[in-house]
Amino acid sequence: MLKNKAAIAGITLFLLTCAGGVAAQEVDADAAKSLFGKSGCKKCHDPVKDKNGPSFEKTSAKYKGKADAEEKLWTHLTTNPIVKYDDKEEKHISPKTDDQGEIRNLIRWILSH
Ligand code: HEC
Repeated sequence: MLKNKAAIAGITLFLLTCAGGVAAQEVDADAAKSLFGKSGCKKCHDPVKDKNGPSFEKTSAKYKGKADAEEKLWTHLTTNPIVKYDDKEEKHISPKTDDQGEIRNLIRWILSH
């Protein structure tokens, strides 16, 4: 009996965690698009077309099923790594905001493609 209770508690916790996970993944696409536009990302990125940088469909596919996808993109977008395109090397820009939540939302939007 006790064992069953523990199992049920475990399952309940698991379901609650899943529900929480889904809620955490919710994306405000309008806010993300607006930040994407005002930060100048459009010059090199498009949701579906490759430009100087990869399309978000490509990036999303690259990170599909990887648990550290958000962290990888967080690092990419906040530490200005050197990127190469057209035989040029330059620092990758960061989104124009000080709000970490807005950057997270943008990352989730990118990964939702
Ligand atoms: C001047 C061109 C340029 C601009 C502007 C630019 N990017 Fe990029 N971006 C690149 C290039 C080139 C790469 C490929 C880097 C690589 O694969 O080494 C890249 C890669 C990425 C990736 C994939 C990283 C990965 O780990 O696969 C994401 C996501 C991204 N950029 C988002 C953005 C966002 C958001 C903005 C606006 C804040 C932005 N980029 C602005 C050129 C640019």
